[in-house]
Amino acid sequence: MRTLIFDTDIGVDDAFALAYAAKTQRLLGITTVFGNVSVHQATKNARLFCEKMGIVAPVYRGCSRPLALAPGAPAKLHGEDGLGDAFENTYSDQAPGAVQFIIDSVRAQPHEITLVAIGPLTNIASAINQAPDIISQVKELVIMGGAFGTDGHAGNVTPFSEFNIWKDPHAADQVLSSALPVILLPLDVTHKVLIRGEEMHQLNQPVLSAICRPYLAYSLAKEGFDGMALHDTLTISWLCLPQAFTLTESPLRVITEGIASGQTVRKLSALASREDAFRDLPTQRIALQVDAQAVRTHFFNALKIKD
Ligand code: BDR
Ligand code: CA
Repeated sequence: MRTLIFDTDIGVDDAFALAYAAKTQRLLGITTVFGNVSVHQATKNARLFCEKMGIVAPVYRGCSRPLALAPGAPAKLHGEDGLGDAFENTYSDQAPGAVQFIIDSVRAQPHEITLVAIGPLTNIASAINQAPDIISQVKELVIMGGAFGTDGHAGNVTPFSEFNIWKDPHAADQVLSSALPVILLPLDVTHKVLIRGEEMHQLNQPVLSAICRPYLAYSLAKEGFDGMALHDTLTISWLCLPQAFTLTESPLRVITEGIASGQTVRKLSALASREDAFRDLPTQRIALQVDAQAVRTHFFNALKIKD
């Protein structure tokens, strides 16, 4: 069991991941960030979801916009409010600062804290910019983000770019090229771990069933599939079941402008070249294959409430 700071732009799959984390890990705090919804909505959502699920964890409010890009529109896939518009949300959007909480927590418990980041990486980039000393004190940074095209799993916002990275490519480039001990779970693996609507309801979790309805309806209308990828939950699968993942290792960068903005790129060759944007960068771990059935089974067993 790890001690987690859970960094989220809480939408539907983020909420599944939070429920999964609460069952299997120790939650030190939830830090919110813009992305699927505004940071104000994400802060309210974190409180609402915790209350509905009986999860006890303090909530901190993080960054409201990308480091360098203009703020963009929230995603609609998760409903207007990010949690499927299933509940009235009267919770406060006020909370202490997430970036300072991350810095203070890592300094207070060096080498003990695992950061799970399942939205844009703006809070994490801001924390290491303000306090570079924490880079060597984080136990692990587990990220859902990016896409490398394995088995055809490329971008989901553009042909090259995955949502979380595309939302703030400058933050992602700083984080992925830093010496933080990153494990990256890109679309290459998250698009392989699917849950059908029927299976979702078999978990006997009324709150989870309620929040995913619009997401499932959208997926059925657009792709003819009554189900969804479990994206963000794979960060928790990595912590519970690392043997289900096949990793590759290489230095990482993110393209920050042009038609491929938000694309994650890894160095494919060790050969020296005259111009090398990866020179002297640390090697990071990237999951490119997954035992999808093992991951699904573990998720079901952790979340299912017996009749
Ligand atoms: C990511 O985008 C968000 O909409 C999901 O919550 C997930 O973090 C998948 O690309
Ligand atoms: Ca997310």
